Amino acid sequence: MKILVTGGLGFIGSHTVVELQNRGFEVVIIDDCSNAQEDVLDGITAITGKRPLFEKLDLKEKNKVEDFFKRYADVVGVIHFAASKAVGESVEKPLLYYENNIGTLVYILKELCKKNKASFIFSSSCTVYGQADKMPITEDAPVKEAESPYGNTKQMGEEIIRDTCKIAPNLNAIALRYFNPMGAHPSGEIGELPIGVPQNLVPFITQTGIGLREQLSVFGDDYPTPDGTCIRDYIYVVDLAKAHVVALERLLDGKNPQNYEVFNVGTGKGSSVLEVIQSFERVSGKKLNYKVVDRRPGDITSAYADTTKANEELGWKAEYPLDEAMESAWVWEQKIRD
Ligand code: UD1
Repeated sequence: MKILVTGGLGFIGSHTVVELQNRGFEVVIIDDCSNAQEDVLDGITAITGKRPLFEKLDLKEKNKVEDFFKRYADVVGVIHFAASKAVGESVEKPLLYYENNIGTLVYILKELCKKNKASFIFSSSCTVYGQADKMPITEDAPVKEAESPYGNTKQMGEEIIRDTCKIAPNLNAIALRYFNPMGAHPSGEIGELPIGVPQNLVPFITQTGIGLREQLSVFGDDYPTPDGTCIRDYIYVVDLAKAHVVALERLLDGKNPQNYEVFNVGTGKGSSVLEVIQSFERVSGKKLNYKVVDRRPGDITSAYADTTKANEELGWKAEYPLDEAMESAWVWEQKIRD
């Protein structure tokens, strides 16, 4: 069965392509290479022994999207990662984010509506919950007003898919709300490649550990948490990739009771910033140079998932603990700096 993975050269996309190929799916990747490199294909090929099909294409070009679905009429499912994801940039360039993340989603859904049957998996985010009132967060926690245009594109994306599913019985969709993805493939062939200064905690830690950054700033230690630093649910990217495959198979096998569903994808365990630093120090054997600074505007205190729904309905559970995920991130950092 042929599956389209948009953004398949990116961090989560490339790991998902590996898991799809391991399960015997044929994969075609669309990527515009704006935030990823074509040689990720070599890494995927080295791991799986199979080179996925690849089309370098900008999904904002509606005619090219139409043309793609004509040429690949045998695509039965789409996993849609392609999107811009820098929170700060989205505040400065909201229209770029709406065009990139919403426009392209609409073009793809239009094409899927023309098919007799189609399965669609959407990259959503725990950012839709904002600061939830209760921990762990269940899927029925209210969606809070978005803090940024980026967050808003995830909320709107979910709504667009939900509304489309109401009028398109041929379309089956799942939105996966990711918590904080981290780590790299254990083979060391693919991993996260942040451009410029990383905004996310784990790549900033590993870059500091290797000496590329002088010091990690810990954004605030006066939060109402046990050690005062923020709590997040860090999920290993390989576990996250596998969640996409089981979600897709649920749709392809017709096991979904509704044609639009939402699942949290996390570990269910919250870790503080200091605990993540300690994990790095354990697996690397190095002391990390860090300093506590002011809070980062827009940060929430705590977010970790209730994963009961994904465990029970998808039959999926995160397997890797934080230290193992951290070790893979550290191996990857050392490899790319070599
Ligand atoms: C970020 C995004 C969010 C996205 C989520 C999952 C922001 C503001 N939010 O959330 O929209 O859905 O990733 O990909 O970017 N930290 C430090 N020092 C650093 C970097 C981070 O102390 O140099 C702390 C943060 O304050 C936070 C934790 O580490 O408490 C995790 O930060 P980050 O990796 O940026 O993820 P989120 O803020 O959870």
